[in-house]
Amino acid sequence: MHKITMLGTGLIGTFYTMALHGTRGRDHVHVAYSRSQERLERFAKEWDIPKTTTDMAAAINDPDTDVVVVGLPNHLHEEAVTLAAQAGKAVLCTKPLARTAAEAKRMLDLVEAAGVFAGYLEDLVYPPKTLRALQSVRNGALGKVLWARSRETHPGPHSDWFWNKELSGGGAIVDMGCHCIEISRNFIGKEIRPVEVVCWADTQVHPIEAEDSAVGMVRYANGAIGQFEVSWTFRGGMDLRDEVSGTAGTIWLNHWMRTGFDVFTAVGEGGYVAEKAESQTGWLFPVGDEVGGLGYRDMFTDMLDALDRKAQPRETFYDGYVVNAIMDAAYKSVTTKQWERVELADWRGQSESSEQVVLTEYDADHILIKEEKLPDGRTKVILKNKATGEISERTLTPG
Ligand SMILES: NC(=O)c1ccc[n+]([C@@H]2O[C@H](COP(=O)([O-])OP(=O)(O)OC[C@H]3O[C@@H](n4cnc5c(N)ncnc54)[C@H](O)[C@@H]3O)[C@@H](O)[C@H]2O)c1
Repeated sequence: MHKITMLGTGLIGTFYTMALHGTRGRDHVHVAYSRSQERLERFAKEWDIPKTTTDMAAAINDPDTDVVVVGLPNHLHEEAVTLAAQAGKAVLCTKPLARTAAEAKRMLDLVEAAGVFAGYLEDLVYPPKTLRALQSVRNGALGKVLWARSRETHPGPHSDWFWNKELSGGGAIVDMGCHCIEISRNFIGKEIRPVEVVCWADTQVHPIEAEDSAVGMVRYANGAIGQFEVSWTFRGGMDLRDEVSGTAGTIWLNHWMRTGFDVFTAVGEGGYVAEKAESQTGWLFPVGDEVGGLGYRDMFTDMLDALDRKAQPRETFYDGYVVNAIMDAAYKSVTTKQWERVELADWRGQSESSEQVVLTEYDADHILIKEEKLPDGRTKVILKNKATGEISERTLTPG
């Protein structure tokens, strides 16, 4: 059983507490910290939390807790993690780990030097559908993964600090690109080195310094591509989709809207519909189990089980650092309009990838490129001659 210090009682502090307290679990938020005592009192009452404080250091150093969960704005992650490491407590930090790779690296070095357990709270690799899809990929269902595309778009974040580049570290890339990048890394293989990034970003709508839309591609050492699409300008709710293609198969994941639970109401249902839902009437897309569907429940199970077993969780501070390094390269590419190298001073995966696509032999002289059944019942094959390289086709008549 763990007694937890929850730093932040905003959107993510609420989801995290829902996940931790939502089932008859053993782990409990024991101390909550936020800026407003009034908010704390409401939060503590709702979630049965014994202690509250508006002093972040006091919350972290509370003698009753052994785990610190960081659910604070991005510019406060490093300070919170530093205090938790100094207190010798396990620390779980929300995404993005930091605003830049340099900041993330300092945090990584700090927890490793202090020898404290550290987990990166990247919930979007834990939705039950994603965990199942990752298992299929590991079992070889897709062959070699060639392309992992991940999209997160919504009409923009709910608090002022997100829109302030100094505090957040950037716009839609740092806010949501971090999710998409880590989802792609999980499908492609976290041991495969991200090599370079090309990225377009713009401020299409909002009067802010940071980007409100971006599309980027990350090239990995084995030739796979991770594509991220993020926007704070999308209308209609929150669009969370992933698409994975391999040499032997494809997976499509849709996490949020039109997932099989559609409601039409002319009068509304009197309250919250789903995160970032824009309307209360008309066609609505509620989510049956929002905390489970977004991965929060499986994420905390993995984190706290790993802590108990003295093992590594699925997502570590090292992963957070790699994601920040990829985002740094993306921001550079937005400026230079060129492919930019992912600078990883500390790379712990494979040095090179020898993974090859397996070609299909057609006969002694030919490799099969493609086979297709035509509308008139014939079958056509496209072949490559092994010796000459010549490409040819053959049509096979049935019967
Ligand atoms: N899916 C996810 O994993 C997910 C979703 C949303 C947010 N987040 C992350 O969680 C963190 C917090 O985001 P949020 O949406 O809960 O934010 P929020 O604005 O809803 O809540 C922020 C919390 O931090 C406290 N706080 C302390 N000092 C503050 C300061 N100087 N300025 C603003 N707030 C301060 C606030 O009192 C509040 O309790 C961010 O790092 C964000 O990227 C993660």
